[in-house]
Amino acid sequence: MSVIRSTVTGCGSYLPEKVLTNNDLAKMVDTSDEWIVQRTGIQQRHVAAEGEVTSDLALEAAKRALSAAGRDAQDIDTIILATATPDNTFPATAVTVQARLGIHHGAAFDVHAVCSGFVYALTTADAYIRAGLSRRCLVIGAETFSRILDWTDRTTCVLFGDGAGAVVVEAAEADGSNADRGILTSHLRSDGRHKEKLFVDGGPSATQTVGHLRMEGREVFKHAVGMITDVIEDAYNATGYTSEDLDWFIPHQANKRIIDASAKKLGIAPEKVVTTVQLHGNTSAASIPLALDTAVKDGRVKKNDLLMLEAMGGGFTWGSVLLRW
Ligand code: UT7
Repeated sequence: MSVIRSTVTGCGSYLPEKVLTNNDLAKMVDTSDEWIVQRTGIQQRHVAAEGEVTSDLALEAAKRALSAAGRDAQDIDTIILATATPDNTFPATAVTVQARLGIHHGAAFDVHAVCSGFVYALTTADAYIRAGLSRRCLVIGAETFSRILDWTDRTTCVLFGDGAGAVVVEAAEADGSNADRGILTSHLRSDGRHKEKLFVDGGPSATQTVGHLRMEGREVFKHAVGMITDVIEDAYNATGYTSEDLDWFIPHQANKRIIDASAKKLGIAPEKVVTTVQLHGNTSAASIPLALDTAVKDGRVKKNDLLMLEAMGGGFTWGSVLLRW
């Protein structure tokens, strides 16, 4: 049977120039390189320069993804940008990126699912493409979390960083079998009962301020592995695949301990796990495309490889996307 599949035809990423190491942070709050590495695996994070905003990061990642896909900006009809740190309350940062790419047709909008944002945006793009609403979609995850951190709170400020990643997703005719290239299945979940465990204590309607990120880290950690494994098992149930069939596990990069524990629980071999959290910390919606781009550029991910993407974050929100490269 002939079906439309959403295939990823190129990816790109961007990290701001300025690097903040664990030792730099130890001069700002009561922490140490040893504690941060041991508890999270993070060695450094990138921080946007003064005046550098989320759309700047997103634009650079988008240009690199378009170039990798061999596409011109004018080929794109939809831009879906995942962020929890937009340039402005409105317009959507996606619309700013659209204008800066010189695109005046089609539609652009933001998706807000915090650390799960990229998985939500990619799933939305897949639904648009399969419904015939889009032929070529630019999906971006971009964040400047440095702007919503409380730099006096050592329990949160050591964990996050700024960055962006993007993919070009295109409609392609396929057989409708698991051997097809493209997105094979995706599973999204959310549960607002967990709001207080990870949130920002400000917003236009509530406080008329931007606010700062607040997190009960231990509580988030407690839920993370179970939620991640649940949505991955949903993908296995939908396709008949198991961990053995995966070529690469490309998880949200929040904490190496969460990544390792999830892989272990699912029986995914450590050599199949793509981990970049040590280089950029938790970049929220940008973390999956940053890790994906790293593994594509260094030659690990090859055509027809089976990739499992997953994320979990504020809300709580969580989700998985299984795709063939
Ligand atoms: O994208 C999704 C969003 N977030 C996450 O995925 C994060 C999930 N949570 C985590 O990654 C971990 O819970 C953390 C890395 C945040 C913390 O690790 P933990 O092993 O859960 O540590 P903890 O919160 O239980 O804290 C242990 C100790 C505490 O001291 P006491 O109470 O034992 O005396 C903290 O006060 O470590 C202390 N601590 C620190 N010490 C040095 C907390 N932050 C720091 C710090 N440096 N930066």
